Amino acid sequence: MLVSAKEMLQKAKAGKYAVGQFNINNLEWTKAILLTAQENNSPVILGVSEGAGKYMCGYKTVVGMVNGMLEELKITVPVALHLDHGSYEGAMACIEAGFSSVMFDGSHYSIEENIAKTKELVDLTSSKGISLEAEVGAIGGEEDGVIGGGEVADPNECKMIADLGVTMLAAGIGNIHGKYPENWAGLSFDTLDDIQKLTKEMPLVLHGGTGIPEDMIKKAISLGVSKINVNTECQLAFAAETRKYIEEGKDLQGKGFDPRKILAPGFEAIKATVKEKMELFGSINKA
Ligand code: 13P
Repeated sequence: MLVSAKEMLQKAKAGKYAVGQFNINNLEWTKAILLTAQENNSPVILGVSEGAGKYMCGYKTVVGMVNGMLEELKITVPVALHLDHGSYEGAMACIEAGFSSVMFDGSHYSIEENIAKTKELVDLTSSKGISLEAEVGAIGGEEDGVIGGGEVADPNECKMIADLGVTMLAAGIGNIHGKYPENWAGLSFDTLDDIQKLTKEMPLVLHGGTGIPEDMIKKAISLGVSKINVNTECQLAFAAETRKYIEEGKDLQGKGFDPRKILAPGFEAIKATVKEKMELFGSINKA
């Protein structure tokens, strides 16, 4: 059964580790992540962007697929199904469809409007036992066509949003989605420290987990980050292995054209990437 992300993140914050949010794109992605979580006895959050939700034939299809897999694969570790960077309407649709967690990304609104919309969703989600992630300070880079400027959040605004009663808070600290540019300045740990001092036990979320050096990930966790989002890295690993299969001409040998064979190396690559991240984040055996 899907669970809210609340308990797993509060435990992670108290235990100084982070739970990974891995974005899903299709059945193979979902199965690879769920099996890896189970094999490593780790809690996990499946992230679904609005674009990926559309691609997978809508939120109800996603809920049906994930619930079916939890049962058929006998998954017993805590799993949350979470809308990533949702609009207000998207969050409402996911709550209706059976997601156990949603993100409302109001970072592009004025702080007043972000507060007003987040507050409405706090009331709605808390009455249904669904966890809610809010965001202050746009995450840079491009995701699903949304381009953010890589802002650094204002810690006082973070406190205002945290005080509304959200479950977890994403704050921009110089992180960006996708690959980091050569001249990237790194994460702003001073800002993170200020945010955590003001928001205290609130689990903080680090977006753009792909390509952040290991020492920065560990430092961020020590300063209150308890959820880390990874998307691009699984895509790169999947693409590299699929490319290799085709370039080696394996699709031309025997029944190598069978989609179940073509997608197998990429599937294994996602599993390896997810396991590596779970080790780094410290969530193994924390289910
Ligand atoms: P990356 O694609 O950079 O790993 O970021 C993922 C993310 O933050 C999803 O919200």
